[in-house]
Amino acid sequence: MERVLVLPGDGIGPEVTQQAVRVLEAAGKRAGIGFECSEALIGGASIDAHGIPLTDDVVEAARTSRAVLLGAVGGPKWDAMPVDTRPEKGLLRIRKELGLYANLRPAAVFPALAQASTLRPEVVDGIDLLVVRELTGGIYFGEPRGRAIVDGRREARNTMVYDEVEIERISRVAFDSARRRRRHVTHVHKANVLDVSQLWIEVVDEVAKGYDDVELQHQLVDSCAMLLLSDPARFDVIVTGNLFGDILSDEAAMLTGSLGMLPSASLGDGGIGLYEPVHGSAPDIAGQDLANPLAAILSVAMLFEHTLDRPDAAAEVRDAVTAVLAAGHRTGDIILEGEKRETIGCVAMGDCVLEKLGA
Ligand code: IPM
Ligand code: MG
Repeated sequence: MERVLVLPGDGIGPEVTQQAVRVLEAAGKRAGIGFECSEALIGGASIDAHGIPLTDDVVEAARTSRAVLLGAVGGPKWDAMPVDTRPEKGLLRIRKELGLYANLRPAAVFPALAQASTLRPEVVDGIDLLVVRELTGGIYFGEPRGRAIVDGRREARNTMVYDEVEIERISRVAFDSARRRRRHVTHVHKANVLDVSQLWIEVVDEVAKGYDDVELQHQLVDSCAMLLLSDPARFDVIVTGNLFGDILSDEAAMLTGSLGMLPSASLGDGGIGLYEPVHGSAPDIAGQDLANPLAAILSVAMLFEHTLDRPDAAAEVRDAVTAVLAAGHRTGDIILEGEKRETIGCVAMGDCVLEKLGA
């Protein structure tokens, strides 16, 4: 039995994870893997119940699990709260506590959805990239941070800081990933301004020496943002720090047509993986059976691949999703304007995937 901790979170989190769990269990059954899933609170749901976005008990439950399946956190109800007590803090804390420094965010175009991108089909054609985002360091966690009154003025600060060990280990993840792909790494930085980026270039270059078979390019973050729009198919693996990775992974995701399709895996050296859709809690459509569960379902595929070392089961889940899209099933977010198709809801989309899985 593999223990999986399910953290549905807020907004559409519960509905998409519910479909993901159905797929996890069905695909597991076919692969001969049994799961013991338990649920716990994170984010706003935890604030409402316990006053804080993540309790020690939940961190402990995560530590004793093989994997964590997360929905999304946040919503207008908690927007006015200070950063240290907001729902997002729960997500940041669990990433940090479990040492999940490597965030893998693949973005590829499903042929059936090529038209759904806001970019022309010939630009989008062939997009198949992986953002490897450093997840437990940088400006998200650097000290000193916080607010003060200085000379009667409100002031606030955050600190961007990386040491060489943090850069080295995430670089290795990127180069190792590239070896399983098209053997190209783009390191994204702002070395014309930031000392931190200069250190990244040094360390990435040192790591690259051990990967003769992988091509490395250093790219400024502003020009990378531009190239992602003009020539996205040129990218294979993009490696970068926490903040740039947050921004560029949303941009990369949107190229493919919908944020509702993109999964992610957060990994470390401790053996626990956390899997979550890249999209947020979408409070505007929460609880109405309108959400697209495919990003959460594709996160389950990543769980099979990375935590359970079962690429066969991962491929089954991905193939089922591809088949569902090819058959024309669409949630509202991936329907084209003017397209004469019926949209289906979150549960029905889960049903479609289960049916294709033969479950
Ligand atoms: C993400 C999200 C989070 C982040 C937020 C919710 C804290 O945007 O996973 O990309 O910035 O890491
Ligand atoms: Mg983000």
